Amino acid sequence: MITQLQERIITKENPYQMVFVCLGNICRSPTGEGVMQHLVNEAGLSSYFLIDSAGTAAWHVGEPANSKSRAVAMEYGVPLLSRARQFQAQDLDQFDLILAMDKENYRNILALATTDAQREKVKLMREFDSSPDDKQVPDPYYGGISGFHEVFRIVERSCKALLEQLKPMVKHDSKAAATGS
Ligand code: 4NP
Repeated sequence: MITQLQERIITKENPYQMVFVCLGNICRSPTGEGVMQHLVNEAGLSSYFLIDSAGTAAWHVGEPANSKSRAVAMEYGVPLLSRARQFQAQDLDQFDLILAMDKENYRNILALATTDAQREKVKLMREFDSSPDDKQVPDPYYGGISGFHEVFRIVERSCKALLEQLKPMVKHDSKAAATGS
């Protein structure tokens, strides 16, 4: 069963904010950020979503995404433009949805939460995957290129399903729609 998110109206004034979180913020979560941004852009919804990524560890802060992650994503026309940052407790307030790549990330994020409202925002990204396996995205960092391809496929499948669930919550500005602006 795919997780069903709480309904909320998404407008340009109140965009839906999501952050993908892995360990280093150089492989899996930058792929999530890049793929979701690409899907949102393709759907013409970039004003309605704010998409970010972060790592639970600080080891790679300031670094661009891993070169293999970037190369694989570019094969699909998806640029990965993030610079690594560490996940902060305040992200639990800012974001509507916090998407952990594996169960260790999930536990480390929840350890920073102090309220039920914060805890409810934290999900495993693969809760939205139609083929969720064990609901974790395998860490590709120490492996070969095939692992990076697998990460991309998992992320793309999950993000497509997640965006389909969010699209009906988008409330287009009727005036802008009428004038086509
Ligand atoms: P990520 O992959 O969590 O998907 O960004 C990793 C990146 C770096 C390390 C581990 C995983 N590391 O041990 O430095």
